[in-house]
Amino acid sequence: MKILILGGAGFGGSGLTQRLVKTGHDISILDVIAPRHVEMIRHLYENETVKYIWKSTQDISPDDIKGFDIIFDFAAQADVPLGFTSPIHTAQNNILSMYRLMECFKKFPPKKFIYMGSGTTFGPNQPLPINEGAPQYAANPYSASKHCAEIVALSYHRTFGIPITILRNGIVYGENMRREIVVARFIINALLSKPLIIEGGDQTRDINYVTNTLDALELLLNVDSSTINGEIYHCATGVETSIDELANTILELTQSESEIQHVTYRHGEQNVRQCLDISKANKILGYQPKIFLREGLKRTIKWFKAENERLGLSGGI
Ligand SMILES: NC(=O)c1ccc[n+]([C@@H]2O[C@H](COP(=O)([O-])OP(=O)(O)OC[C@H]3O[C@@H](n4cnc5c(N)ncnc54)[C@H](O)[C@@H]3O)[C@@H](O)[C@H]2O)c1
Repeated sequence: MKILILGGAGFGGSGLTQRLVKTGHDISILDVIAPRHVEMIRHLYENETVKYIWKSTQDISPDDIKGFDIIFDFAAQADVPLGFTSPIHTAQNNILSMYRLMECFKKFPPKKFIYMGSGTTFGPNQPLPINEGAPQYAANPYSASKHCAEIVALSYHRTFGIPITILRNGIVYGENMRREIVVARFIINALLSKPLIIEGGDQTRDINYVTNTLDALELLLNVDSSTINGEIYHCATGVETSIDELANTILELTQSESEIQHVTYRHGEQNVRQCLDISKANKILGYQPKIFLREGLKRTIKWFKAENERLGLSGGI
């Protein structure tokens, strides 16, 4: 199959690229990052195992997507804090590019279009576990942009029959993750004996190791398109973990004596409790998380230790 991975140079997209090249599919990546700056998959691009289209989805044209059977969409401004400082950039990048894609798909629709949605679009006081039909309540500009992108894609599906499948994720972490994600920030500071700064602490999340997410994406790749078209699936662990618990588990696993400092909640975080209902993904796709928090953190800590040594890092975040 001809597969295009939008945002394929990032954390999740490069993980999927590395996994799918082993299956013999014809893989292309489209990303705004300059190709020679992409460490994780540079070898695959340089030895021509994958094609690299250096471009933004905001400028995508029908010819860029013509002939692809499956398109995965990881391309987004993916950071909540940057959403606060740059809400316009976040909206343009995450929402307008979805309109752009949908207009291209009217001309050349793929068989499947799989979008990486976010569980941050759910607000406080939700009955747990949160299922796909629960009301969304975006409480920050990033979450609003992810929610809007879903609405745009679903509207084109309803009106023009454009294929869309949404995989909504909790926090995804693991090797190669961005250093801005809370799991990474805590691990880095624990390893460097710097304080772990917790905004709030009793709010909870569903924290999923990246290979579980990649398993779900591979299941979506292989299932019949008529089964998943127009559908939303939650991909997570189904386990609720507080940010305090995450920090303490990281301190224990790294044997760190870093202190914990509590500061005020980030906007919209108070009373948020989350774990996602994964029964639909389990029943329809056969999705089952295999790696849970402690094991996933052990693997991620090992990777960060090696990275810190390689980069000679001594500062915390
Ligand atoms: N990591 C998580 O915890 C998490 C959780 C829920 C949802 N998601 C979603 O999953 C997707 C991937 O997240 P990630 O953690 O891998 O992020 P990431 O920042 O590591 O990867 C995103 C990639 O998209 C690229 N990109 C951004 N805008 C682009 C554009 N307009 N055109 C082309 N490329 C563009 C970036 O250069 C980057 O390589 C995002 O849509 C994010 O919202 C991530």
